[in-house]
Amino acid sequence: MRPIEDQVVLVTGATSGLGQALAQRLAQMGATVVAHGRDQGRLQALAEQVAASGGRGINTVRADLAEIRQVDSLADTVLQRHHRLHALVNNAGVGFGPPRGERELSVDGIELRFAVNHLAGYALARRLADRLAASAPARIVQVASAAQLALDPEEPLTAVNYDGITAYRRSKLAQIMATYDLAADLVGTGVTVNAVHPASFMDTAMVREYGQQPLSTVDEGLQAVLRLVTDPALDGVSGRYFNGIHSAEPDPQADDPAVRGWLRSFSEDLLRRART
Ligand SMILES: NC(=O)c1ccc[n+]([C@@H]2O[C@H](COP(=O)([O-])OP(=O)(O)OC[C@H]3O[C@@H](n4cnc5c(N)ncnc54)[C@H](OP(=O)(O)O)[C@@H]3O)[C@@H](O)[C@H]2O)c1
Repeated sequence: MRPIEDQVVLVTGATSGLGQALAQRLAQMGATVVAHGRDQGRLQALAEQVAASGGRGINTVRADLAEIRQVDSLADTVLQRHHRLHALVNNAGVGFGPPRGERELSVDGIELRFAVNHLAGYALARRLADRLAASAPARIVQVASAAQLALDPEEPLTAVNYDGITAYRRSKLAQIMATYDLAADLVGTGVTVNAVHPASFMDTAMVREYGQQPLSTVDEGLQAVLRLVTDPALDGVSGRYFNGIHSAEPDPQADDPAVRGWLRSFSEDLLRRART
């Protein structure tokens, strides 16, 4: 891998929690960070914090990932502004929601957790894959979770018996299945794709929203994700799932090529419909 000072790294969901800590740390290390957020004021505040702490200047880009057209314009903006891209960290995510929260939909009418946690990152990775390959060696890091649940192809979007934890867990396993699929597609391009559970119940907004007592620090999750972005020992390692810093096995459904094939065409179909 290139020295971090020579890398351009896109981090989604960089205005809060783990993504914010990662963007700040990478900028301190000298990377050119492209920080994504959905609120211009908070992106500006992040840029000022990084500048004040002596980090390399941060570039910001705004998009609501609950709308596929905005995911596409995020990709277009990155492609226009950055002729090289060495890492994409799909970190942005929606948590369990509040206890007994109601089912929510994205702007495109797709169950919100599936849309933001899986579909947006999948679309972004597909749109940026050629630029990553042209900048190789490059990495895609999917911030997933140990909270996973097998998807039901008959009822993938949790329309029946909805609860936020079920929807979240399905979206996180979808993210891991997409990781395996992308990794296979990108073999030979110099782009690796891995998924990681950062740490359990870090002290972040989504954990507080659910009313859960934090069990780990943001710094623990940061170490796990930072390693996947920057550790030269992981050069060439692709299509893997890590729990923290350890290689791990996700829910067995991730290893089922038939379900992965179904998920891929289901996701592509949702994207096609959202774009028309
Ligand atoms: N916290 C944990 O214990 C834990 C455990 C396992 C995995 N994870 C994963 O870690 C990642 C980071 O989560 P976190 O714990 O740092 O939570 P967080 O502080 O709530 O951060 C979530 C980030 O996602 C962004 N986001 C949510 N919906 C979005 C949308 N529609 N469009 C654009 N951005 C959106 C948020 O934007 P705003 O800043 O505008 O709110 C925020 O920056 C997530 O993928 C999460 O699933 C977390």
